[in-house]
Amino acid sequence: MSSSNRPANVEAFREAVVTRRSVRQFTEEPIPEAVLQDCLDMALLAPNSSNLQMWNFYRITSADKREQMAKACMSQKAAKTAAELIVCTGHTRNWRKHAKEILNQWPGDQPPKVVQQYYGGLTQFMYGMVPMDMLGFGARAKKGLRDSIGLVRPMMRTPNTEADMELWAAKSVALACENLMLALRAYGFDSCPMEGFDEQRVRKLCGYGRHEFTVMVIAAGRRHPKGIYHERMRFDRDRFIHEV
Ligand SMILES: Cc1cc2nc3c(=O)[nH]c(=O)nc-3n(C[C@H](O)[C@H](O)[C@H](O)COP(=O)(O)O)c2cc1C
Repeated sequence: MSSSNRPANVEAFREAVVTRRSVRQFTEEPIPEAVLQDCLDMALLAPNSSNLQMWNFYRITSADKREQMAKACMSQKAAKTAAELIVCTGHTRNWRKHAKEILNQWPGDQPPKVVQQYYGGLTQFMYGMVPMDMLGFGARAKKGLRDSIGLVRPMMRTPNTEADMELWAAKSVALACENLMLALRAYGFDSCPMEGFDEQRVRKLCGYGRHEFTVMVIAAGRRHPKGIYHERMRFDRDRFIHEV
C-alpha cells in the first residue's frame, strides 16, 4: 500500500467534495463491480482510532434482502431506488483481536517495543472493560481512576462505558463512510447516507451481534435528474470556525 508523499490533486479533490450531494433518487444503472470494490477499498484506508479498524461494511446483495432493507430504511426513496445498499457498522469488542493481529502482521520483522507496549498494554487499559461492568461499577471505577490521574497530568477521560465505546468506534466508521461516498463521487456515482432506519431490522438482516451497531446505511448509485431535492445550503462559516 502506497505511503507516497506526493501531493494529491486539490482541484480533483475539491470537485469530488463540492459535487457530492445526498441524492434521494437513483437511476437503474448498476455500479460496476470493480468501481464498487475500489470505493470500498478506499473506505478502508480512512484514518481510524489506533488503527484498530473497528468497522464492517455489509453490502446487501440478494434481491429479497434489498427489498427488506429498503423497508427497514423507512422506505426512503434513496433506499428503494439505490443500485447498492451498504450497511456501515461499528464494533466495540473486536479491538482486542485486532490489537493482537496488528502485532502479528506488523510490516517487517518485530514490531518496535513502543508498538508492542501500545497494543499489548495501553490499548487494554484504554478500551478494556473492567469486570463487573454490567452493574456499572467497572466503568465508574475506571472513570474515577482516569479522573484521579487527570488531577496531576493530562489524561484521556474516555471511553469508560459501552456508550463511550460506541462513540469511539462511530467516529472512525463515519470517516470511512465519507471516504466511500467521496470515492463514489470521484467515479461519477452518488450516495445518500441514512440514519433513518430501524436498527433492529437492519441488525437482523445483516446478522450481527450485540457488540456491533449500525452507524449509517449508505444508498449508492447513479444520480437521477430528480435526485437532488434543493440547492445546497450551509450556514456562514464564521459560525463554526473558531480561533481560540
Ligand atoms: C449521519 C447522517 C445521517 C443522514 N440520514 C439521512 C437520512 O436518513 N435520509 C436522508 O435523506 N438524508 C440523510 N442524511 C443526509 C443529510 O440530510 C445531508 O447530508 C444534509 O442535508 C446536507 O446535504 P448534502 O449532503 O447534499 O450536502 C444523513 C446524513 C448524515 C451525515
